[in-house]
Amino acid sequence: MCFRAVVIFLALTRALEVACLKTFPPGFRFGAASAAYQIEGGWNVSDKGESIWDHIVHTRPGFIADLSTGDVACDSYHLWEEDLKILEDLGVDFYRFSISWPRLLPSGFPNHISEDGCRYYSNLIDGLLARGIAPVVTLYHWDLPQNLQDLGGWTNPLVVEWFADYARVVYSLFADRVKTWITINEPCFVCDGAYRDIIAPGIEDYEIGALLCTKYVLLAHAAAYRIYEREFKHKYGGEVSITNQEIWLEPKTEADWELTLLAREYAFGRYTYPVFSAEGGWPPALEAYMAEKSAKEGYPRSRLPAFTPEEIQLIKGSSDFFGLNHYTSRTVRAPAPGERPGLYMFESFEEVGAVLESKPEWAGDGSDWLKVNPEGLRHNLNWTRQLYGDVRILIIENGCSSEDTLNDTGRVSYIRDYLEQVLLAIDDGIKVIGYTAWSLMDDFEWIDGYQTRFGLHAVDFSDPRRARTARASASYYRRVLRTRAARGDHTEL
Ligand code: NOJ
Repeated sequence: MCFRAVVIFLALTRALEVACLKTFPPGFRFGAASAAYQIEGGWNVSDKGESIWDHIVHTRPGFIADLSTGDVACDSYHLWEEDLKILEDLGVDFYRFSISWPRLLPSGFPNHISEDGCRYYSNLIDGLLARGIAPVVTLYHWDLPQNLQDLGGWTNPLVVEWFADYARVVYSLFADRVKTWITINEPCFVCDGAYRDIIAPGIEDYEIGALLCTKYVLLAHAAAYRIYEREFKHKYGGEVSITNQEIWLEPKTEADWELTLLAREYAFGRYTYPVFSAEGGWPPALEAYMAEKSAKEGYPRSRLPAFTPEEIQLIKGSSDFFGLNHYTSRTVRAPAPGERPGLYMFESFEEVGAVLESKPEWAGDGSDWLKVNPEGLRHNLNWTRQLYGDVRILIIENGCSSEDTLNDTGRVSYIRDYLEQVLLAIDDGIKVIGYTAWSLMDDFEWIDGYQTRFGLHAVDFSDPRRARTARASASYYRRVLRTRAARGDHTEL
């Protein structure tokens, strides 16, 4: 009886909380996102260089579930004006897109800047500004020049210089018009995914390769941040950060708390703590754990490579806001005796002995990995503040996949429910400054190819003109943008 009363009380409190939701505060910005390889196509036009994605889809076709490639994708390289139209129609405040490194610098180095590449991004930026849409530019969304990969890619310490040189070229060309920069998208995929053979370059070496990559990705990010800070900020006053995907992790039982905290440090603290903590360097529990584990394994030093004191200082504070990509949640527990959890990043973090699971009530109708738990976002935002204080947080990706239908009610509910949690987090006092829907339109969803659809707009991939059609979620998002509320009177869903 008493238990029922508590459940009813909690349900009423939740209903009241939702009913009292306010509108988003003035200055809160809404956007939509894409990434170069996922939409541009034009993989070998003009003098464009080969990227690791061009390479892998052509040399290992079975790597992609539907055997497709991003050779044409949404053909945004030619149809960018169509993208401008749908962005304008949505009424977004900003558009987040990425620059393809090998399109701008075909050799990977600044010895030659592609005129066509430069013109393409310049036109896109001007087109956005002419429509009152701010460009938010990612420097690296997973498409490394293949020749740099051949030299070791993100595990070669020289990548820090290569990336810094590339970043300087991009700032020199576009910083007069672009005020918000993201250096690297989801380093956990760039390192842990790439070295678990989940994304290009598709290498199996998570014990050494992934951890070397972690160090150099962070140093490359910091180098790019410091270049902007020293050479461009005084002229243009823009902001630079990195964006991390964080899965909300909670303990399966009370006994799993310590493991959950370690799993959080491994999964995303490895990429955020060095940048956002007051101390800098690796997250302490993880650093100690990896040192002990590596010693037991017979390594002369920790597999998590050490930073010098100078490197710690360089990375610490290298951000003007906190970039967050958030999609899903998991529970954490230790493996049962003899259990060998899968290596996939949504199944386990085997490096720290953490098995990840979902709860039945988190079911969604999109991708298998995307368990829907809107409250996880609010928890995640609160956790970020608990760790790093009153940092301004820009949600740089959030969204879900759906079937190829225009009536994507699942996505409407997903975005609405997650936005409600953003409002509640703002009420909690968290400084969330904006929200970005992933994705503007269906695109090449990496190893899933075109089977998985994340778009507010459907794209007809059998049509040479790659027609873009607004889904129900695009209409819903347009209303959110107009009303600045997640659930308006006129929102029937
Ligand atoms: C995060 C990645 O940044 C993006 O490229 C991808 O399409 C979405 N997750 C959905 O999987």
